[in-house]
Amino acid sequence: MYSDITRKIQLDPLPEHLALQAIDIYHVYGLEHQNKVVALKGVSFDIKKSEILGIIGPSGSGKSTLLLSLGGMLKPSAGQVFYADGIDITKMPEEEQFEYRRNNIGYVFQEQNLIPFLSAEKNIEMPMRLINTNRSKRKQRVKELMEILGIWHRRAHTPQRISGGEQQRVAIARALANNPNLIFADEPTGNVDIETSTQILELFNELKEDLGVSYLICSHDPIVGDFSDRTLEIRDGILIGEHLQDIDLTDLDSSRFLVIDNQNRITLPENAISELEGALLYTWSMTEEGILLKPLRKYDKSKGRKIKNCTTCGADIPKGVYSCPRCGAKLTRVVR
Ligand SMILES: Nc1ncnc2c1ncn2[C@@H]1O[C@H](COP(=O)(O)OP(=O)(O)OP(=O)(O)O)[C@@H](O)[C@H]1O
Ligand SMILES: [Mg+2]
Repeated sequence: MYSDITRKIQLDPLPEHLALQAIDIYHVYGLEHQNKVVALKGVSFDIKKSEILGIIGPSGSGKSTLLLSLGGMLKPSAGQVFYADGIDITKMPEEEQFEYRRNNIGYVFQEQNLIPFLSAEKNIEMPMRLINTNRSKRKQRVKELMEILGIWHRRAHTPQRISGGEQQRVAIARALANNPNLIFADEPTGNVDIETSTQILELFNELKEDLGVSYLICSHDPIVGDFSDRTLEIRDGILIGEHLQDIDLTDLDSSRFLVIDNQNRITLPENAISELEGALLYTWSMTEEGILLKPLRKYDKSKGRKIKNCTTCGADIPKGVYSCPRCGAKLTRVVR
């Protein structure tokens, strides 16, 4: 049940096949008179029901900010986030957001945030206690989830007495406890080895089928693309590319569709920009093959220099390269 205020922000439900629709999300960090960081610059996309959507991007590209904004834990500076029932969570009063999240969304964080002094079982039970689920239902659901996830034998152990992979499973079970429609996972494979990562992602796929849940998984771990139905690429707070299944993350060019976003922007892949040797102006023309871009004026070396170290992670930047080889951040020129 929603209050009168909430009802005003509930529009018609989304089309049947959609679990979430994000429209033009912006997020600016920093208060007035402080240095501002525009972490999201107009991000729009849909999540389909029973879909695993991956979002990949380098460190600092805006993945965590996006996840927090979608769940209402961070109020976006602008934009709307609609859930299947037509609720715009960005307009919902804070106290109602808590309840809405508890009932509809499960979060899996990289640092699992498990309560250290509670057993695995009690950790998983916690979200159900918060919505006053009765004891027998709680016990039944905990057992069911722990069995599905293969951790029932670890039920009495506290987080520090189980492995990293098992802790991650406890965190996943906890996220699933209240039967959410959507799971948001931020670097769910961040702290575990490759074998455990594979198991966790396979598990997401099984649970997607069995429980009809949709997943949004943010990561810079290439393996996530292998297990997603669709993968979006984010760079500097803008979605720049979309990939369907079976992508080779060492060769994204082979499967990338470029995105023209709601702002009518199109971002060229880094290697295309390198190929154009940093030209500043282009002419464009329609040909039989498509659109042809021709560099008009080359970057004038006397007017500036390319930075030598990445401003995000500090790595050395070789000549002729326009994105950081270590963290992938886009590099800008420093004009003298
Ligand atoms: N609380 C904050 N205050 C100011 N700037 C922030 C804050 N949190 C994040 N940022 C900045 O916003 C941008 C996006 O950060 P975000 O954490 O969303 O990136 P990310 O893609 O999740 O990175 P990572 O892969 O390292 O987790 C970065 O430039 C970051 O420095
Ligand atoms: Mg992050």
